[in-house]
Amino acid sequence: MFGGPLEQEDMKKMAAEKAVERIADGMTIGLGTGSTVKYVIKKLGEMINTGLKIEGVPTSLKTKKIAKKYGIPLVDLDEHTEIDLTIDGADEVDSYLNLIKGGGGALTREKIIAYHSKKELIVVDETKIVKKLGVGFPLPVEVIKYGWNATKKTLEQLDCTAELRKIMDEVYITDNSNYILDCDFGKINEPEVLEKEINSIPGVIENGLFVGLVDEVIVGSKQGIITLEERCLQ
Ligand code: A5P
Repeated sequence: MFGGPLEQEDMKKMAAEKAVERIADGMTIGLGTGSTVKYVIKKLGEMINTGLKIEGVPTSLKTKKIAKKYGIPLVDLDEHTEIDLTIDGADEVDSYLNLIKGGGGALTREKIIAYHSKKELIVVDETKIVKKLGVGFPLPVEVIKYGWNATKKTLEQLDCTAELRKIMDEVYITDNSNYILDCDFGKINEPEVLEKEINSIPGVIENGLFVGLVDEVIVGSKQGIITLEERCLQ
């Protein structure tokens, strides 16, 4: 299927196509956000065309649009409050299956949907695997617009440098009409502590640390598929 050396896109596609093997008829599927999950959605579209019956719950407006394009029937989290399986991407994955997410700005809805899923399955290429979170990717924090600069200063007291996310000089606005502060903490030694500290600051909606929420990670690597489960790591 993949001739020659595997590129990052091939590894993403490989992980995505392995992940959809976990899907069965009748499931409610949480649909994550990002370029890796796009391959999941595309494949699901093909499976639906040949008879698979599932419903999807999108984690972002972007995913909603892509899923509609591929003919995936969609439902709202408030109609289906229990999701069988969510397949999502990540920006960094550590050896305890903790994540940094939110590079695509969808971290709050992604975390709500992960929390309400019986199983959270993450698909990544090998470049996302790290020893410690935070070394290669700043932590996205969604904050309300009101008082964002004061919130930023409070976040920086936790020993990070925070930057208001902009795309082409325009301030980035999330699907929930909020801002994102990308917070560079360097190496994050205690993600479970930091996650709670950040979320206790007034004005913070949610942060991109996913701690203890993930059941399995499928990694597309140059050596093929690697599956990480919590029990094989400690
Ligand atoms: C979206 O907000 C993120 O959490 C994505 O899941 C993450 O950025 C991974 O995206 P890619 O698959 O495009 O790297």
